[in-house]
Amino acid sequence: MIHPVLLCGGSGTRLWPLSRQSYPKQFARLTGNESLFQGSARRLSGAGFVAPLVVTGDPFRFIVTEQLAQVGMAPQGILIEPEGRNTAPAVLAAALWLARRDAAALMLIAPSDHVIPDDTAFRAAVAAAVPQAEAGDLVTFGIAPTRPEIGYGYLELAAGAQADAASPQPLARFVEKPNAARAEEMLEAGHYLWNAGIFLCTAEAIVAAYKTYAPEMLEAVAASVEDAETDLGFTRLAAEPWARAENTSIDFAIMEKAGNLAVMPYAAGWSDLGGWDAVWLESGPDAAGNVCSEHATAIACEDTLLRSESPDLELVGIGLRDVIAIAMNDAVLVAHKSEAQRVKEAVSALKARG
Ligand code: GDD
Ligand code: MG
Repeated sequence: MIHPVLLCGGSGTRLWPLSRQSYPKQFARLTGNESLFQGSARRLSGAGFVAPLVVTGDPFRFIVTEQLAQVGMAPQGILIEPEGRNTAPAVLAAALWLARRDAAALMLIAPSDHVIPDDTAFRAAVAAAVPQAEAGDLVTFGIAPTRPEIGYGYLELAAGAQADAASPQPLARFVEKPNAARAEEMLEAGHYLWNAGIFLCTAEAIVAAYKTYAPEMLEAVAASVEDAETDLGFTRLAAEPWARAENTSIDFAIMEKAGNLAVMPYAAGWSDLGGWDAVWLESGPDAAGNVCSEHATAIACEDTLLRSESPDLELVGIGLRDVIAIAMNDAVLVAHKSEAQRVKEAVSALKARG
């Protein structure tokens, strides 16, 4: 059986003003009727999966239970981080929590902010990766890259590995978030895949990797899990040792260093909704390239995303091209689509103003 480990502690600032510190993007209904978090939970349910283990922050604990209940699910546990310290401590806490019951437990570590349209294909890819993970490898899922994206990790296939195989392939290297020149080189070289940020492994294999590559983090997080308190079914990780865990991602702390990596190629559609440009693309633009929400109207527009998040607010665009406009009750974003990634600068500027 596979234990889904759902990470949902990120703040998703590039999707401001819909994504807020108090209500990050994974809980918002961005492209359909369910939130990205609900989509991730549902995708990893059914035959072969047990109930998910969720790792999140205190402000989100009730959103998590409520959104799971809405899709007819209940978690096996909710680990609450005293503060977000990125994915490396979060994954380790989940692994240690599971390992206390079953060291050989298979974990599917999944972000909650992705769009993966074909649930059946994804479950089949996970099933195909199980033997490799049971053998002790850390299996990642790899996507054929289409642009020199610097926001992703890159997976270098070992000599002789197949980028389109239906089984896990050996990896030579994992390169997290390269600079633009390096990303360009890897795209051209052709034997690299993007890291989808999804990992399948046993609890003991990932704990062993931390023991080798991040022993101090292991000590801190183990103490935090050991001293955790249970409160209304939530597991509150102990704050004092947690504060000692380095604030870093699993990609930098473990994946770039580990030797027992494999990649399961995945080609049936994947997107990290990392910005409004990606939301526009994934929402299925009409023949003129426009995406309009309810209460939004495009007149003589092209390749434009118009979203009103309020029934009291009609949004109309006229003669626009490549524009993103998001209207909330208390904030409006108007941006050129090519600059969509800079929305996080707006969040920093607003924060600085207090
Ligand atoms: N619980 C918890 N605590 N979750 C967290 C925290 C944290 O402190 N920080 C981030 N997360 C969650 C986010 O909500 C998201 O679901 C997931 O972990 C990944 O974090 P991101 O911050 O979105 O990572 P990224 O997109 O920059 O990079 C990762 O994903 C890329 C693909 O989308 C890496 O794994 C890259 O290598 C990968 O290409
Ligand atoms: Mg992400």
